[in-house]
Amino acid sequence: MRMRTLEWLDPTDDAQFGEFHAAYTAAHDSQWDRPYEAHEQRAELLDDAGYVDLRGVLVREADGTVGGVGIIEMPLKDNGTLAYVSAHIVPAHRRCGHGTAVIGAFVEMARSRGRRTLFAEARWNVEMEGSGNTLFAERMGFRLDLADAHRVLDLPATMPDAPVRDGYQLRSWRGPCPVEWIDEYATLLALIVQEAPTGDYPLENEYFDAARVRSEEELLMTQRRHRQVVVAIGPDGRLAGHTQLVVSVDEGSDAFQWDTLVLREHRGHGLGLSIKVEAMRVAQDLLVGRSYVHTYNAGSNGPMIAVNEAMGFRQVGWLGEFIREL
Ligand SMILES: CC(C)(COP(=O)(O)OP(=O)(O)OC[C@H]1O[C@@H](n2cnc3c(N)ncnc32)[C@H](O)[C@@H]1OP(=O)(O)O)[C@@H](O)C(=O)NCCC(=O)NCCS
Repeated sequence: MRMRTLEWLDPTDDAQFGEFHAAYTAAHDSQWDRPYEAHEQRAELLDDAGYVDLRGVLVREADGTVGGVGIIEMPLKDNGTLAYVSAHIVPAHRRCGHGTAVIGAFVEMARSRGRRTLFAEARWNVEMEGSGNTLFAERMGFRLDLADAHRVLDLPATMPDAPVRDGYQLRSWRGPCPVEWIDEYATLLALIVQEAPTGDYPLENEYFDAARVRSEEELLMTQRRHRQVVVAIGPDGRLAGHTQLVVSVDEGSDAFQWDTLVLREHRGHGLGLSIKVEAMRVAQDLLVGRSYVHTYNAGSNGPMIAVNEAMGFRQVGWLGEFIREL
């Protein structure tokens, strides 16, 4: 066993954050795993808007090397008994207990903040049944709650025709949500947990109001990310659904599909495909020169998967959502 010390990250400390991010990036060694850029990660760690308590930890070896890091996120306005945790150990420093030490520190931190459940993610490739990451999670006392399929779309891609019908209309924006939609948009963002398939664990909807929408928009700006939003407006003039396509200005190869949601009462009108195809069209300038769009959906989410397959997405992996009760 290697000697190690666990050190909580001070994200204002340039040198320590540099070491933290270097180890975090080195730990992303699988083909389809994408780390955050340094300024994207730091902006989140420095964000003090009060919706989440996000902290990093470093594993320092006896000679001063950082062998790995971990991140714990505790929601402050919803899911008050839950903590999201991740361990990222540099490949050459694995299998000597660093990952176990990180999870141990998070168990203590989570308990001290009244959290009773840990939530972690671990990925494996599509042709496999699991991976070292999932074996680690199981060894740490987690059980699989839900498997999300990771799909990518190779760019440039030709989109199917999917015009809106049945009296619906589409609108799009980048940057700030138009003020006339902000309250309804906050409601859509809050509903994703309840409206999309989840595992057995009773996750609460995330707390969203207009202030949080604005706070996230500011964070995206600091992170130098563009978020292309397309919404569907129903015949009653209210928001029926939306989709978000996100790119980092400083990272050249990837784009990420974030939320897509069509409200229950508006399903069956082809809106899922219409809004996603429209997002690809209006985000053309952001996608030029990029290689992939990534998307994650519950393996059991038939309608969303049908939409993604119609657009040409192919599955490359699985992302397991793991739960451990404390
Ligand atoms: C998963 C990960 C965090 C493990 O870190 P680590 O420091 O190697 O873990 P530990 O040394 O504490 O391993 C503890 C036990 O987990 C199991 N385990 C860990 N990695 C394993 C692997 N690749 N294959 C099989 N079992 C593994 C073993 O039982 C191990 O005990 P042992 O070495 O005595 O057999 C690391 O591989 C990693 O950073 N992976 C990429 C990110 C990720 O998926 N994180 C996990 C989600 S939180």
